[in-house]
Amino acid sequence: MATYFDTPSRTFGEYLLIPSLTTRECTPDKISLATPLTRYKTGEKPAITANIPLVSAGMQSVSGVQMGIALAREGGFCFIYGSQSIESQAEMIRTVKNNRAGFVISKWNLKPTDTLQDILNIKAETDHSTIPITDDGSHHGQLLGLITSKDYRISRDTPDTPVAQLMTPVDSLITSEEGISLTAANDLIWDHKINCLPIIDRKGRLNSLVFRKDYDQHKHNPLSLFDDQKRYLVGASINSHDYKQRVPALVEAGVDLLCIDSSDGYSVWQKETIEFVHKKYKGAVKVGAGNVVDKAAFKYLADAGADFIKIGIGGGSICITREQKGIGRGQASAVIEVAAARDEYARTTGEYIPLCSDGSIVHDYHITLALAMGADFVMMGRYFARLDESPSAKVKRGNDFVKEYWGEGSNRARNWQRYDLGDHKGGLTFQEGVDSYIPYAGTLKENLNITIAKVKSTMSNCGAADIPDFHKNAKLTLVSDLSLVEGAPHDLIVRE
Ligand code: IMP
Repeated sequence: MATYFDTPSRTFGEYLLIPSLTTRECTPDKISLATPLTRYKTGEKPAITANIPLVSAGMQSVSGVQMGIALAREGGFCFIYGSQSIESQAEMIRTVKNNRAGFVISKWNLKPTDTLQDILNIKAETDHSTIPITDDGSHHGQLLGLITSKDYRISRDTPDTPVAQLMTPVDSLITSEEGISLTAANDLIWDHKINCLPIIDRKGRLNSLVFRKDYDQHKHNPLSLFDDQKRYLVGASINSHDYKQRVPALVEAGVDLLCIDSSDGYSVWQKETIEFVHKKYKGAVKVGAGNVVDKAAFKYLADAGADFIKIGIGGGSICITREQKGIGRGQASAVIEVAAARDEYARTTGEYIPLCSDGSIVHDYHITLALAMGADFVMMGRYFARLDESPSAKVKRGNDFVKEYWGEGSNRARNWQRYDLGDHKGGLTFQEGVDSYIPYAGTLKENLNITIAKVKSTMSNCGAADIPDFHKNAKLTLVSDLSLVEGAPHDLIVRE
């Protein structure tokens, strides 16, 4: 007979936290959200710790170079998507690792043959008025000039005026070669009274931009995640098919942490992938695995050596796995069961395996619930895809801006490796994800400030000074349908 679980499959929205005594030691300003990302022996330190418990999903529409830099700067962690060629993923890792605080990789660039209209389009979409002009319009092309709003007059120049006629050519610009320190770059900006200093390599290709307006921001960022050479930490998603070629290229590029990205991680291929990485690098390269939703799958990946384990099947906002295949589990039930298995594993082996709750975060308080239930960090796709730093296009629909967001199991991503179960057909037979729009939400920094403030405020209500404390002492209750109604504005007419 089949096995039946005796509790229903529940999700975050069905739980609430019960406050505990708030003391002077756990006011929001004193709460630490530092959290381990990799397995460690109890009493020892993990190899990698994040300063906020948020990581971005390894998805084409979420985790590119800009997200990698911006998230590490805020103390979180980005997994650069793996559904691209090995070379381009390694190049993205290299770009993040080579970026230094204050040196911005330019996201919006134009070619000399582009027109004033293209400049105006970028300005309308992004509010950026400084645009590098490179030979191929890429962020690493030969730098030919710079456009700022001082370079054109809309009343005089026609929209089809080529950029080449408007830009300040590179020989009239103050530039500097890569390798310059941020302090020296800022000195040049002040000495020459300029707003932006392009940094170029020896061959004159654009490396990055340093902006006057960022000066204060980069002086203070105590949570930024750096390696021992002061480079940002960054991760990469891999699959269990081409790992023998992909992993060495990513390690060579400087990746800090790998994550096997699969909708169902309870497989011999994940075990083989973990064993390959650990054997090849003698444990020095860490690799997370998943996704799982019960203790049996957790135990399998834990015994295989996974450095962290990711939880969640079928709950992602773009996901249609449950509809298509009938597998999955409510995210809260999955986290609760796997966290109990993890604690048991730590008691019996003396090794703590961090858990990542992946997907299904709709409201900020769902992050707090995931942490209370035993997750050490959460992975999010939708949350990050809405922001300026995601690689997807920002488009206008009606009066509002939206960003494109598509699943790795959608036709658009064509990431068959994530869903292949060993028959290596090399294509998607059916989709497990959708292509969608989500409301545009602004910058990572402004959104994180609010999210983190809410998480800390709730932890303060619950008397928890840090995440391990929260794991031990959180009190949770299921909510009835009627108490959900009670929790929203009711019996009145809300004035906007
Ligand atoms: P979200 O934060 O709710 O949008 O969920 C993001 C998570 O959904 C990712 O981290 C993946 O685990 C998962 N995911 C990404 N693409 C797909 C897909 O196409 N189908 C199913 N799940 C997906």
